[in-house]
Amino acid sequence: MTDLPPGVLPYDPMAKEVIDDPFAEYRRRQSGCPIGHSETLGMPFWALFGYDDVRSAMLDPKAFSSRYGPTPVFQKSIGFFADGKEHTHFRAIFRKRLSPEGIAALQPRVAELARRLLDDMIAKGPVVDLHDDFALPLPVHVISWLLGIQGDDFVTLKHWSDELMENAFGKSNERFLKVYAGICAFFDQHLDARYDMLTAAGIEEALPEHVGSVLPDDWISDAVCADYLGRKLNRDEQRMALMGLLVGGNETTTSLITNLMWRLLEEPSRWEQVRSDPDRFIPVAIEESLRFDSPAQAMFRTTLCPVEVAGVEIGPKQKLMLNFAAANRDPAAFDDPDSFRLDRDARDLSRRHLAFGGGPHGCPGAPLSRMEVAVVMQLFVKHLPAATLAGPSERSVGYNMWGRSSLPINLGC
Ligand code: HEM
Repeated sequence: MTDLPPGVLPYDPMAKEVIDDPFAEYRRRQSGCPIGHSETLGMPFWALFGYDDVRSAMLDPKAFSSRYGPTPVFQKSIGFFADGKEHTHFRAIFRKRLSPEGIAALQPRVAELARRLLDDMIAKGPVVDLHDDFALPLPVHVISWLLGIQGDDFVTLKHWSDELMENAFGKSNERFLKVYAGICAFFDQHLDARYDMLTAAGIEEALPEHVGSVLPDDWISDAVCADYLGRKLNRDEQRMALMGLLVGGNETTTSLITNLMWRLLEEPSRWEQVRSDPDRFIPVAIEESLRFDSPAQAMFRTTLCPVEVAGVEIGPKQKLMLNFAAANRDPAAFDDPDSFRLDRDARDLSRRHLAFGGGPHGCPGAPLSRMEVAVVMQLFVKHLPAATLAGPSERSVGYNMWGRSSLPINLGC
């Protein structure tokens, strides 16, 4: 093992005690040693646990770059895995559909889907698994609409998306590459079909105005037609964009729904409070859940130059884990951080918690997942007033995702 500088302790995100209770481990780190070093995943990296350290690194992309990807593995610089102008322009192509107008237009469709899933759940009840029966299918359907994937293909997509997430953060690079190749082949079929449509319409060059006219109005068409720094996206960039959007918006939103309902039903007075004034407490409950149970625990950056963090000198080209979940439980940033409280201020929380990261790479899907979960909560409050937990839940697999992979509840109706 490498000799560590004074003040740095080894960190193993896969250690049993960390997997069982990551927040207890974060608290130990914050009270003594806010920087750790890991060699246990086969890829060495530093880990930051303090709010100010994480936030400062996140907001300084010149020193803490995203060009080698957001995982402990050094990845090829492409698409979202980039800095500066390349990244801003790439992101802008896909962010348009996540604008306030785009989200507002989607809302009725999300409400209809949520209502259908709820009705199916009630027909199946009274005891259901909120994860399998509701929280999982909802965001997968929504991302499939945005991507432009029809029919049952989304089941395959969900499977791949989960496997990719599970292996991306260091579990098995071999498995990761295999899953990655499968998803590429899947998206290639869809991309090729769009070029065939253009050819059939006698069009040689894809242009932005073909989206929604010759081609369907979705992200796959955007990937084909958008202008990117004076050229079109190449195939690797197209695949990377679609994959990033697919993976980014799936398990995270599922986890937000399960985490939130878990915490509210765990303490029935919380559920009662939310039901007593949904317009006031749903926004607080969503932001508090994001802070308290951040679905994506951490993302990585790479140092481009020598830096000093948490009093430790780190050289260039080192991977650094920004632990957003730990930062969100830092007593230096939040009062009583280990309590889930509905008397916090939703707006203040949303401005300060780091569940969506921040800086140039801050999550572009945040407004979409907030809208989805707000719609869901309004429905649950109205139709499941007597819901209760119906047994122990299980946590998601891997160290980086924090959600319930199973959440038995009694719908109470
Ligand atoms: C509760 C739901 C979600 C959570 C907790 C979440 C969390 C995150 C976090 C922590 C990051 C990294 C930010 C950083 O490194 O500074 C991120 C990035 C990203 N997320 Fe989300 N996300 C969620 C929903 C979504 C949705 C719905 C989408 C797509 C529609 C999405 C797409 C992305 C993409 C594409 C990136 C990369 C952005 C970039 O590098 O510029 N996410 N998300």
